[in-house]
Amino acid sequence: MTDLDRLEKNLLQQIEAADSEEALESVRVQALGKKGQVSVQMKSLGKMSPEERKQKGPLLNGLKARIGEAIGARKEQLERAALEARLANERADITLPIRPLPKGKIHPITQVAEEVAVIFADMGFEIREGPDMEDDFHNFTALNFPPDHPARELHDTFFLERQEGADPMVLRTHTSPVQIRTMMSEKPPLRVIIPGRTFRCDSDQTHTPMFHQVEGLVIDKQTHMGHLKGTLNAFIEAFFEVDGVETRLRPHFFPFTEPSAEMDVRYSRVGNELRIGQGDSWMEILGCGMVHPNVLKNCGLDPDEYQGFAFGMGIDRLAMLKYGIPDLRDMFAADARWLEHYGFDALDQPNLATGLSR
Ligand code: PHE
Repeated sequence: MTDLDRLEKNLLQQIEAADSEEALESVRVQALGKKGQVSVQMKSLGKMSPEERKQKGPLLNGLKARIGEAIGARKEQLERAALEARLANERADITLPIRPLPKGKIHPITQVAEEVAVIFADMGFEIREGPDMEDDFHNFTALNFPPDHPARELHDTFFLERQEGADPMVLRTHTSPVQIRTMMSEKPPLRVIIPGRTFRCDSDQTHTPMFHQVEGLVIDKQTHMGHLKGTLNAFIEAFFEVDGVETRLRPHFFPFTEPSAEMDVRYSRVGNELRIGQGDSWMEILGCGMVHPNVLKNCGLDPDEYQGFAFGMGIDRLAMLKYGIPDLRDMFAADARWLEHYGFDALDQPNLATGLSR
């Protein structure tokens, strides 16, 4: 074996043994760097006789090329191994839950408003909204409240400061004014629900000056009270998530419906728990009736052609009943501990397929 063969064998062994890119680099410098073992041999060519150079030149060039190739190949191997190691190491398990879990909670009123919307949407209802500050016309007059009728006071209305020449303004006492807005701006057939804030000057365990209602309005050519009762029964069963809820319509008075009724549901009290659906007691749950012909006329609809029903209920009250919340005022106290206890997970959206509430 010649000296060159020995040098080549030795260098190839070192290249093979280099176990990192740094180690390989130092072998490269030692072989092919300015003062490297191969470079020194190459330099010696200059001092050789032409004959000797002719013989040694190709040998040295071959050696240099093979060493260079071996280094390149080893480098590629090491790079690939490093990449594999990173891929194995940095793998993320995307089936793990999000961490930290989101902190905020959905307020029971938001939750219940969503649940109500989902149930009525399934029956073909759309959502409409109106302003919190209403004029006297939409809140009372168009709804067939006679001028100076005591019903206006019955609502414990918050009156806003009167502006010269303008219709008196109030904080809306119910969501019914949006019935008017809808009938005046859209053509029947109508099927809408109207959730929103409402205001009355009242405060105790079951009343707050600001509360929430959801209104329902159906206008068509042949709508009757059977549709009203069927729609509300379907809603109540879906909302309370129980089958066979017994309800009754009890005659009542509202200026904007005729006939008018309140709907009661059966319930029982087992210990501290309210069971909606069956039992010996009746609980009032909402107001409803057939839209009064005067209201239809006030909105430009012909009562001989169109009729329909309307209903209104308190969202907060529905939330208290369904989720066992004892005092309405706590709902608006903005106490984080209360929300932590009664609130809902932001990612659990109510829907009819997987259940409204969990
Ligand atoms: N607006 C009525 C209330 O606030 C409820 C209601 C709505 C009654 C629609 C009948 C029809 O008490």
